[in-house]
Amino acid sequence: MDWLKEALFVREMAMENNRMFGDALPMIASENILSPLCKEMLITDFHGRYAEGNPGKRYYQGCKFFDEVESKAIELAKILFDARYADVRPTSGTVANMAVFKAWTKPGDKVTVLDTADGAHISFGKWGAAGLRGLELHTYPFDSEAMNIDVDGAAKLIRSVEPKLALFGQSVFLFPTPLKELADVAHEVGAKVVYDAAHVLGLIAGGKFQQPLKEGADVMTGSTHKTLPGPQGGVILANKTRESQDIKYLDWGVFPGVTSSYHLHHVAAKAIAFAEHLAFGKEYAEQIIRNAKKLAEELYNQGFDVLGRNHGFTESHQILFKVGKEKGGEAAQKLEEAGIIANMNMVPGDEHPMRPSGIRLGVQELTRLGMKEGEMEEIAKFFKRVLIDGEEPAKVKKDVVEFKKNYRKIHYCFYEGEDAYEYIKLVQK
Ligand SMILES: Cc1ncc(COP(=O)(O)O)c(C=O)c1O
Repeated sequence: MDWLKEALFVREMAMENNRMFGDALPMIASENILSPLCKEMLITDFHGRYAEGNPGKRYYQGCKFFDEVESKAIELAKILFDARYADVRPTSGTVANMAVFKAWTKPGDKVTVLDTADGAHISFGKWGAAGLRGLELHTYPFDSEAMNIDVDGAAKLIRSVEPKLALFGQSVFLFPTPLKELADVAHEVGAKVVYDAAHVLGLIAGGKFQQPLKEGADVMTGSTHKTLPGPQGGVILANKTRESQDIKYLDWGVFPGVTSSYHLHHVAAKAIAFAEHLAFGKEYAEQIIRNAKKLAEELYNQGFDVLGRNHGFTESHQILFKVGKEKGGEAAQKLEEAGIIANMNMVPGDEHPMRPSGIRLGVQELTRLGMKEGEMEEIAKFFKRVLIDGEEPAKVKKDVVEFKKNYRKIHYCFYEGEDAYEYIKLVQK
């Protein structure tokens, strides 16, 4: 075997991937693109180093510059989220959730949670982190017209189950959780309140979504690469100081609970992403929500069955629409052939995750490329051509590629204007 050839094959696929996304309309709601300064951190020497422990208290030597970086990331996260405690070590949102489970539950404990079919993430499900911890799941009733938790039903459930944790936060997350009401009920029965902000972290930080830590959440977890457009990673935030016993357990949950090396280059990029969000996050979050509302409205006007219509369609970066019973996969495939990258998604009433009836969209990446409401109108027309008019996807793709040529530059960050999809070669051959 020619091993160099094998290695260069992988590199060629990476280049193709850059080209594909550069030409496409990337609309997966959990994704984003990295700013130039964040990207630079990923190829620093921090990659591959170890720093178990906390700044100033390490198990390994060689951490003096990284200690500065991690301390800065913590400081900036606390400012960004107006929180008294921030842990920037979790390597993903799932890992952050696992750390909370490790810290605050034992196998067999009861938790209340939304069903994955109604929008919860798999890490709160039987087959994900909650199941791995052996937690007993009790699901909230869901109001599929309002696309939100049924408050009275959920309060009743929490009172009768008396869970260890009341879990909130969603992967399909159109509207803020009725958190204030339910956090009070959870606290009444001695439960801690966990809010998974993975999707909406950047909107919360930009002050444009609910503020969970002010509405009763004892802890907020999140991913740092969705609407908060940093490197892939996780974060844990809370409003108690490090001295509190609850926080000591959380710290212990992260290490040695669920991390060893925690991807130091990503921590450096997180610190930069937090600084960028402090500088540009409010404006970015505002435009994301305007774009999502506009796209939802335009899709509805074009004839799509967009959910949440009696409630303004969405208050987040997401849009969810139905495409016919179990037709989500087929529709997502056609969209991809037309250069629109989105995912099939379960909608309320669906039973099988692999045969869902909806499409979920997110506009956070398109917004970062400088698109505004006018562009959303154009994009809704592409959807109609593919999914309602039944036009040949390859024909639509030609127009998508032409349209996208004007939107490759990154915004809402330092050194904006760089091409987001350019392939940076370190080896020139
Ligand atoms: C609500 C929610 N929590 C957690 C996660 C997992 O995040 P990560 O991919 O960072 O592990 C996701 C992923 O999309 C999510 O939607």
